[in-house]
Amino acid sequence: MSRFANDGKTFQSIFEELHQNPELSLHEYETTKRIKNWLQGQSVTLRETSLPTGVFAEISGDLNGPAVGLRADIDALPIHEQTDLPYQSQNEGVMHACGHDFHTTALLWAAALLKQNQLDLPGTVRLIFQPAEETGHGGLKVVKDGQLKGLDAVVGIHNKPDLPVGTIGIKAGPLMAACDKFKITFNGIGGHAAIPERTRDPIVAASSFVQTAQTIVSRNISPKHEAVVSITSIHGGDVWNVLPGKVELLGTVRTFYDQDRDLIIDRFAAIADGLQQAFNVQIAVEWGQGTPSVFNEEKIARIIREANENEVRVVTPEVSVAGDDFSCFQREVPGVFAFVGSNGPEDWHHPAYRVTLKGSALPQNSIIALRLPF
Ligand code: NI
Repeated sequence: MSRFANDGKTFQSIFEELHQNPELSLHEYETTKRIKNWLQGQSVTLRETSLPTGVFAEISGDLNGPAVGLRADIDALPIHEQTDLPYQSQNEGVMHACGHDFHTTALLWAAALLKQNQLDLPGTVRLIFQPAEETGHGGLKVVKDGQLKGLDAVVGIHNKPDLPVGTIGIKAGPLMAACDKFKITFNGIGGHAAIPERTRDPIVAASSFVQTAQTIVSRNISPKHEAVVSITSIHGGDVWNVLPGKVELLGTVRTFYDQDRDLIIDRFAAIADGLQQAFNVQIAVEWGQGTPSVFNEEKIARIIREANENEVRVVTPEVSVAGDDFSCFQREVPGVFAFVGSNGPEDWHHPAYRVTLKGSALPQNSIIALRLPF
């Protein structure tokens, strides 16, 4: 296995070290130090940043060419690890349960390969080790820090347990969902359960909202577009003989197209407005806008796909209703996010989650990184 030139570490050992030392979003201080040390050992030029965590670096070739960003996320999750790996997390209650240790290792490997081939490199590759993907805050911080300025394209990967090792999934268009959340408050007038005419019952209004909201996707969104509205919490009342004055609903909306997202927000407002009239209660909709959908640029997706087809098995993946704030980068620079097969059986964020490194998963990640649209 390839080794880092400076300290002889294998990429397997780097991966294990990262896995053993997971850190939560915006607290990736030790991870940041490790990445910096490894890159500096390879004489890779670091970029200035105002962010306390995350690492940004650049490798420029002698030949003219585009500037392409490669992104790996570096944070872990508040999960107690339940694998039998010999290199389990040593940070109690924190775990790399989404394989960001794998992404980080793959990008370090790409850095080493790019550095070795620097003279033949047409253009510039910027290495983006992004903090805080799991909380959805890091991507935007990186954009605001100016780390995408001057790039012509940006490429990222995520491991995918339902694809076998040795497979990558690339598609143009939507890949991962926009993830929004909402809170809806129904304010009525509580009172005696047997004297409803003196109340304004928020329970009936909330029940009606739950039913009506489930018609938004089925009656307003094209059947060719995926979208989900889920109401996940409903709270109101404490006892059997008193009508409450207030009911709260919580839930989430997942969409892949901006126009669907906007339409659902509009429909929520319209339904709330109508039910206010119908039930004579006050309804407040609070929208928690999350990250937009991961939406791959067609031309870059095609170029990367064609460049990789002779090296690995390339498939067209199904869309994922999970989100990734790589989408914030794609709003700044044309970009493509690809899935890399990592063998299940557990899915992302499971306490027994593990990325399979057997075979040639890591080199292939690096190949993806290297076969850019030059
Ligand atoms: Ni992830």
